[in-house]
Amino acid sequence: MVQHWFDLSGKVALVTGAGANGGNGHAIALALAEAGARLVVSDIDAAGARETAREIRALDRPVLAVHCDNGNPDDITAMFAEIDRVYGRIDILVNNVGIGQRARPEELSLADWQRVIRVNLDGTFLCSQEAGRRMIRQGTGGSIVNISSIAGSSALGRGNFVYSVTKGGINQLTRELAVEWAPYRIRVNAVLPAQILTPALQQLFRDPRLDAEKTRARMLAGIPLDRFGEPEDVAKAVLFLVSDAAAFITGHLLAVDGGSLALNAGGSKVWPKDE
Ligand SMILES: NC(=O)c1ccc[n+]([C@@H]2O[C@H](COP(=O)([O-])OP(=O)(O)OC[C@H]3O[C@@H](n4cnc5c(N)ncnc54)[C@H](O)[C@@H]3O)[C@@H](O)[C@H]2O)c1
Repeated sequence: MVQHWFDLSGKVALVTGAGANGGNGHAIALALAEAGARLVVSDIDAAGARETAREIRALDRPVLAVHCDNGNPDDITAMFAEIDRVYGRIDILVNNVGIGQRARPEELSLADWQRVIRVNLDGTFLCSQEAGRRMIRQGTGGSIVNISSIAGSSALGRGNFVYSVTKGGINQLTRELAVEWAPYRIRVNAVLPAQILTPALQQLFRDPRLDAEKTRARMLAGIPLDRFGEPEDVAKAVLFLVSDAAAFITGHLLAVDGGSLALNAGGSKVWPKDE
């Protein structure tokens, strides 16, 4: 009886950074397709996007794979022109692309700072603007979900400086757009994951500047539910937010973090006598 709240039949959904690499975008694209949406999957990795499209076609859902570098405004313009040509509308946008540049703040170059800002903030802004203009014209509402991070609401340290700053910006972009576009029934929300077991996190564990075991233990100590997230944990939250089940929710930052943001940095999930 309540399943229809989550039914996305007839909707056109774009997920950026949805290449088949076992990351969050990949899991989100498959979930939205299973819920009935017609998909657009974009990625800087064209082969990865094509592979996700193949998986979605196997679910018997229409899908368009697009090569798009979110750091290149011309690519974003061309992607939306292609969406216009193929589907003629857009109902759901998931801004999933997010990169980092691990460096000490006192050593980070301006070029690296600007590259991360360009991909994460300019890219999210431009995709939202292109989608928002179309949703406003269509007059049938819409839903935008930004994949932020707990790093946008609390500081991680360990060289996450510019990454965290962009995620903080994405949180505020979410609130501003939610208010600006509420009159058009365009809902704008964000998901704030803690550490999710994606290729990006696996790569961090291979960073020679970090002790993988210590980093892993430190991260887990900050997650009350005592496990890393899975890409499907993120996909479930996105499916909820884009669906009719969240019809009265906009401007919300939904932590998908096993309780990480709830835990004070000086707090602990174990009693001192049990340590
Ligand atoms: N993995 C985590 O622990 C974690 C935690 C919090 C938030 N997030 C956020 O989730 C999102 C996805 O993270 P992930 O770990 O799945 O990432 P990932 O790096 O594993 O995959 C992201 C995808 O984006 C693509 N991509 C990279 N640069 C691009 C660009 N310039 N234009 C288009 N596509 C590009 C990659 O090819 C890849 O397919 C990001 O916004 C990230 O900040 C991840």
